[in-house]
Amino acid sequence: MLDSALWIGTGQNVTCPEFQKTVKLEGKVKSAALSLTCVGVYEARINGRRVGDFILAPGCTVYDKRLQVQTYDVTDMLSAENTLTITVGSGWHKSRLSEKRPEINARPRALIAELSVTYEDGKTLTVPTDGSWSVRPSHVTFNDIYDGETYDATLDPGPFRPVELMDFGRDFLIPQEGEEIRECGTVLPRALITTPRGEHVIDFGQNLTGYVAVTVTAHAGDAVELSCAEVLDKDGNFYNGNYRTAKSKMTFICREGHAEYKPRFTFYGFRYIRVDKFPGKIDLDAFRAVVLHSDIKRTGYIRSSSPKLNRLFENTLWSQRGNFVDIPTDCPQRDERMGWTGDAQVFTKTACYNYDVKKFFEKWLADLRADQRPDGSVPDTIPNFWNSDRVSTAWADVAAVIPWCLYEMYGDRHILEDSFDSMRRWVDFMTGDTSDKYLWTGPGLSGRTKHYGDWLAMDAPEGDRKGATPDDFIASAFYAYSTSLLVKAGHALGRDVSEYEKLYRNIVSKFKETFTGFTTHTQYVLALYFGLTDDKNALAATLDRLIHDNGDRLMTGFVGTPYLLYALSDNGYVETAYDLLLQEAYPSWLYEVDHGATTIWEHWDGIREDGTFWSDRMNSYNHYAYGSVMDWVYSVAGGIRPALPGFERATVAPTPSRKLDSLEVEYLSIRGPIISRWERTGTGFRYEISTPVPADVIISGVKHDVQPGKYVFFSD
Ligand code: BGC
Repeated sequence: MLDSALWIGTGQNVTCPEFQKTVKLEGKVKSAALSLTCVGVYEARINGRRVGDFILAPGCTVYDKRLQVQTYDVTDMLSAENTLTITVGSGWHKSRLSEKRPEINARPRALIAELSVTYEDGKTLTVPTDGSWSVRPSHVTFNDIYDGETYDATLDPGPFRPVELMDFGRDFLIPQEGEEIRECGTVLPRALITTPRGEHVIDFGQNLTGYVAVTVTAHAGDAVELSCAEVLDKDGNFYNGNYRTAKSKMTFICREGHAEYKPRFTFYGFRYIRVDKFPGKIDLDAFRAVVLHSDIKRTGYIRSSSPKLNRLFENTLWSQRGNFVDIPTDCPQRDERMGWTGDAQVFTKTACYNYDVKKFFEKWLADLRADQRPDGSVPDTIPNFWNSDRVSTAWADVAAVIPWCLYEMYGDRHILEDSFDSMRRWVDFMTGDTSDKYLWTGPGLSGRTKHYGDWLAMDAPEGDRKGATPDDFIASAFYAYSTSLLVKAGHALGRDVSEYEKLYRNIVSKFKETFTGFTTHTQYVLALYFGLTDDKNALAATLDRLIHDNGDRLMTGFVGTPYLLYALSDNGYVETAYDLLLQEAYPSWLYEVDHGATTIWEHWDGIREDGTFWSDRMNSYNHYAYGSVMDWVYSVAGGIRPALPGFERATVAPTPSRKLDSLEVEYLSIRGPIISRWERTGTGFRYEISTPVPADVIISGVKHDVQPGKYVFFSD
């Protein structure tokens, strides 16, 4: 790949260089392609026209091992004389986000590219990057993923100078694997607010990920300066304390006359924009928010009779879009935006229902394998940009959970083939990290094990973030769970996993023997959902009582919440599951909706009842983890589940409640749309089911073996 091209750099530390090459063509062009990648993120132009619409290309990967190369068809962009201009910004590669990974971050910004032309007469021309290219600074004088971008239209970039040849090699170059990041929508301003403090703030009405495009008529040297926020404080003032050190600024130094500006080498998470500087009167028509995310295709729809539940669903979609900017991130706004494994682990199933995320996650799993440590442990973020050597249960288990989930939803054995070894190495790590045979307990023999626990659970001590469920309990439960998934993967691939079957049985019996007398909601949830109890009925009854005693409210954090409603509905407490889903009192999903959420919050108490905030330290309003409740709505309330991997056969087992008048769930499986709709009748329910594949339709516990088609059922 890029065989004849050489890496070229600036020879000096230019924050956003612009590389250039003039190409003359002699003859009629039959086809032409431009292949390229860079250290940083690039925007390529031919004769001033942008090549492709991939924003922040080449995307985000474990760059020192896997750097994606994109190839664009540029046949229609060429003329007799052409100017190729490729601007290279910092991106993740050169952001302060990856500073702790010098083998990535210390590389100077550089470009490698190749234009390949085939003439109609069959002759070819290859124009690779080499010493004949030239470079100069661009108008972008500052850019960083966390801190934003400054574009100075008045800057004189000076003459083009010779490039410096660099020697990075090519063995880490790979073809594009993921979805391209694109501008996927526009949100117009809803209001211009003058805050009590006198700030001018634009409300876009929706927390989103992207940037702001501005049109402005100005004098040369006038500035537009914008700051981002997700929420206003309780007095209605602009608040961005929760961005921590991320400056998240957009600054444009204008040229004389009319122009449109938007950042090109970074992204922001925001609902509000404070207009710090703007030449003349602020006109809302001059601003629009551009929505940026990996261009994943929508596959899931939920429509219910409850506008608040519908809003919660919308919020989940927005949080998914906003955190699927090439890697699954915790949040898009503060100084993190990392591929946190625990967050992805809990959200993947919902993500798969909402959007076709096969390609997106396959690429990320390849990065996971690239950064999985030699001892099999999995870092807490992928890419491991922070160079963390920490290992945590429920975070690292992503290595087993996601491949299995993708296999169930998409039925592609290659996913398991690619990940089987990584799953096995993760399970082996746990086995080797504990001196307590068949449990994973204590600080871990590796000396690096430090669990996040039931992160942000309501039973965390005041001011703390770690819930009360003991580490040993969670770690041993997930040890069992990941081993069970490894065994399933082995069976699907026809491998001999008898050793792991035995291991699994031993973990389960040791778990049952060791862990008795539960105190936290999450303990009941994990024991029930992972099948780690012989006493399902008693445990479920106690969980149900604990929830009622707690005013029909949850106590769980990142670890317990994703399975909470399943633990109830699978064991006869469907109504309690609906109570929690539709609860509006704090803490609950709809509490957030009632408090104006347009995305999913990181903390149940992101905004407290008195309007104050949890804390500046860690308080994102766009964190998808708790949006994981939606897979329960798809797969239990609506009842759409794969009976065979990839929906070769479906299960449609709607579980209605009279707490809702109606619910319609639609999933565009790889074999066609499956629809499950129910509505309340006088005493029972009417169901409409449509399936493109043979299905087990289960209505009120009665199983109907149906062929593809549309069906109506009633129950009373
Ligand atoms: C992130 C989380 C993540 C956690 C680890 C936080 O700072 O935002 O979502 O999972 O750290 O516990």
